Amino acid sequence: MTEKETPITLIVNGRTHRVFVSPSALLLNVLRDQLNVMGPKYGCGIGECGACSVLIDGELSLSCLTLAVSVMGHVITTVEAVVEDPVGKIVADKFLSHAAVQCGFCTPGMLVAATSLLQSERSPSEEDIRQHLRGNLCRCTGYAALVRSVQDAAESLDGEPDHEMRAGN
Ligand code: FES
Ligand code: FES
Repeated sequence: MTEKETPITLIVNGRTHRVFVSPSALLLNVLRDQLNVMGPKYGCGIGECGACSVLIDGELSLSCLTLAVSVMGHVITTVEAVVEDPVGKIVADKFLSHAAVQCGFCTPGMLVAATSLLQSERSPSEEDIRQHLRGNLCRCTGYAALVRSVQDAAESLDGEPDHEMRAGN
């Protein structure tokens, strides 16, 4: 028996979408399959890899564990908007300059997570960074380059006024 689909409104990267979803539809699948927002990746599907990370009302969240119906009317921000954000742009540049991107599969989730940290904490310690990124797995980089990227981004932002995530406004 198929579940009855209901219409919901999702606000994704500043745009409002009306979609029909079943009660058990996951945000990750709705983003990728119905809205063609392909930045969040399907890695494990069970909350262990962070590849599907998005921001929901500015909070780092796993879209593979989030029911789409539960975020109706909430502000969802994916990596596509994060890299347009002033802080996210700097983080993305530092990922490239420190060669923190190899196969790239973890990168969207890492960028979302790292940017969310620097949005709330401009001078994180190395331990803060490692703790914040602990839910995001990377098979390629060994994490050192990722941590250096975030440290370098934090140094670049030192003294800059706080930026709000534009897509969330
Ligand atoms: S796909 Fe969501 S945590 Fe792995
Ligand atoms: S760059 Fe390959 S998994 Fe992180």
